[in-house]
Amino acid sequence: MTAGPVRVLALSGSLRGSSKTSALLEAARIVAPSGVTVSVFRGLGDLPLFNPDYEDRPPAAVLTFQRALALADTVLICCPEYAHGVPGAFKNALDWVVGSGELVNKPVGLLNASAAGAHAQESLRETLSVMSARIVPAACLRVALSGPVQPASLLATLPEVTGPLQEALQTLARAARP
Ligand SMILES: Cc1cc2nc3c(=O)[nH]c(=O)nc-3n(C[C@H](O)[C@H](O)[C@H](O)COP(=O)(O)O)c2cc1C
Repeated sequence: MTAGPVRVLALSGSLRGSSKTSALLEAARIVAPSGVTVSVFRGLGDLPLFNPDYEDRPPAAVLTFQRALALADTVLICCPEYAHGVPGAFKNALDWVVGSGELVNKPVGLLNASAAGAHAQESLRETLSVMSARIVPAACLRVALSGPVQPASLLATLPEVTGPLQEALQTLARAARP
């Protein structure tokens, strides 16, 4: 049994500098309940395009991503929808860990920061399932953020945001350390 706080790695499917997806995950980091630490992974935009030729000798940015996943007890994903699908950059990141297997049996929660985006969520579920990630239904929540992007520090003060985030994190923590 691992001691210490439950480690949650948060992955944003948006590379945009001012992103509601990333802001929601940053808010999760701020409001994480006691016994849970959230790290928001920043390097997805540094990953090269997936090429199976390099799976046996992954580039440094890929190794960094794989190590971060391996060290996490659980993963919290928030991903926007682009053209009814998962953004290419995020699917590319997942492709790099199909073979290496860091998501196998890992408890995963899925947040949706938009009122829409059902196609991407469905596609993401299918991909994660075939990768043998353990999707935790009670940690799959929609926290629809309408209007302009708000800073994480503000989101972290809104009960309608913090409530679902803390619930998702508690659920993931229980799934990771039953
Ligand atoms: C290229 C592109 C395609 C999009 N396609 C869809 C779509 O098919 N369905 C949808 O609900 N939203 C779509 N959107 C809207 C984004 O999902 C939405 O703005 C999301 O909140 C962006 O997240 P971000 O602020 O974290 O970058 C699209 C946005 C872009 C830039």
